[in-house]
Amino acid sequence: KRFCGFSDTTCQQKKHNTITQHVQIILISAVGSAIAKIVGANAAKNSKFANTVKMWVFEEMVNGRKLTEIINTEHENIKYLPGHKLPANVLAVPDLVEASSDADILVFVIPHQFVGRVCDTIKGKIKSDALGISLIKGVDEGPDGLKLISDVIQEKLGITMSVLMGANIANEVADEKFCETTIGCKKKNHGALLKELMQTSNFRVTVVEEYDVVEICGALKNIVAVGAGFCDGLGFGDNTKAAVIRLGLMEMIAFARIFCTAGPVSSSTFLESCGVADLITTCYGGRNRKVAEAFVTTGKSIEELEKEMLNGQKLQGPATAAEVYAILKHKNLIDKFPLFNAVYQICYQGHPVTEFIKCLQNHPEHM
Ligand SMILES: NC(=O)c1ccc[n+]([C@@H]2O[C@H](COP(=O)([O-])OP(=O)(O)OC[C@H]3O[C@@H](n4cnc5c(N)ncnc54)[C@H](O)[C@@H]3O)[C@@H](O)[C@H]2O)c1
Repeated sequence: KRFCGFSDTTCQQKKHNTITQHVQIILISAVGSAIAKIVGANAAKNSKFANTVKMWVFEEMVNGRKLTEIINTEHENIKYLPGHKLPANVLAVPDLVEASSDADILVFVIPHQFVGRVCDTIKGKIKSDALGISLIKGVDEGPDGLKLISDVIQEKLGITMSVLMGANIANEVADEKFCETTIGCKKKNHGALLKELMQTSNFRVTVVEEYDVVEICGALKNIVAVGAGFCDGLGFGDNTKAAVIRLGLMEMIAFARIFCTAGPVSSSTFLESCGVADLITTCYGGRNRKVAEAFVTTGKSIEELEKEMLNGQKLQGPATAAEVYAILKHKNLIDKFPLFNAVYQICYQGHPVTEFIKCLQNHPEHM
C-alpha cells in the first residue's frame, strides 16, 4: 500500500520503497521554531520521514554569537522563541540553497515581505516535485487584484502549495497548550501527508479543500485585529470589541466571496480554526492588537512601535490593510468594507483614530 502522499508516478521515481522523505523547514522565526518543534518530534518517530529536519535560519548575531550556532548547540532559538527547547534532530542551516536543495517538503514560515527574495534565491535549485506548505499570513497585489502568497510561491518555484492557518500563537503552540489548526490543500493525498507531519495530540489538524479561503482568512484577520486594538486603546468595552470581531468577520466573508474564485467559498470554512478561532485569538492575544492599542495610547507611529515592541518581529495587519485597500479601490468596492478601509486610513492616511468607531456605526450590515 502506497502511503507516502506523492502520486504513484512520483513515488516510483523517488523509489519510495523505504519511503523516506527529507522534511525541510524554511526559515526560523517565532512560529517557525514552534512548528520545528512539532515537525522535528514527529519526524523523529515516524520512519516515513527523514530523521533530520533542516531549518533555514536568517543569520543574525545574538549576544556576539551566530544564531545558527546557538540553535545547533543549545537547541533553542533564544531570539525568537526563548525558553523552548527544539528537538536535537532540527538542524539550523544559514545557507538557504544548502538548506532546501534536497527537500521533498518545504514549509514556508517567513514574514511575507521576504517571500520574493527567498523564492528567487532557491528557484531552480530545489527538487521540481517537492511539496510546499505556507504558514504565511498576508496577501500580495497582482496585476488583476489579489494574489495569494501561496500562489506567488507556486508560480515562482513551480511546486504545488498547501497552506496551514489557525489560532496558533507561537508561544502557546511551543508550550504544547491545546489548539486546532486548518490545512487547506488542492490535493487530498498532500493533505493526508501534511497532517501526518504536523498533527500532535495538542495540535489538532483539520484538512479542507478551500485552500484559498483558508489563506485569505489568515491574512484578513490581522486587519480586524488592528481594529480590535484601536477599540481597546480607545477604552471601549467587550461589547464593542465583539462588534468589531463580528463585522470584521462579515467583511472577511464578503471579501472571500468576491476574490476567492478558484472554487466554492463555504460558510463552514469560516467556522474552522483558520476562521473564527484565529480571528478571536488574534483580536485578544496577537501582536497586531497590542501595537494598535499602543498606537492610540502613546500617539507614536506604527513603525516606531513595531521597532520598540516586537523585538525584530514584523507587523502584518497594517501592510495587509494597504494591500487590500488597493485591491478594493481598483474594483470600486471600498464602501462595502468600512472596517478594512478605516484601518488603512488610520494607519497610512493620518485619519484620526478617535473616529474609528464611525466605521461600525455606518456599516452596510446594518443598512
Ligand atoms: N507568530 C505567530 O504566532 C504566527 C502564527 C501563525 C503564523 N504566523 C505567520 O508566520 C510568518 C512568520 O511569522 P513569525 O511571527 O514567525 O515571524 P516574525 O514576524 O516574528 O519575523 C521575524 C523573522 O523574520 C526573519 N527575518 C528578518 N529579516 C529577514 C530577511 N531579510 N529575510 C528573511 N527573513 C528575515 C527573522 O529571522 C525572524 O525569524 C508570518 O507570515 C506570520 O503571519 C505567525
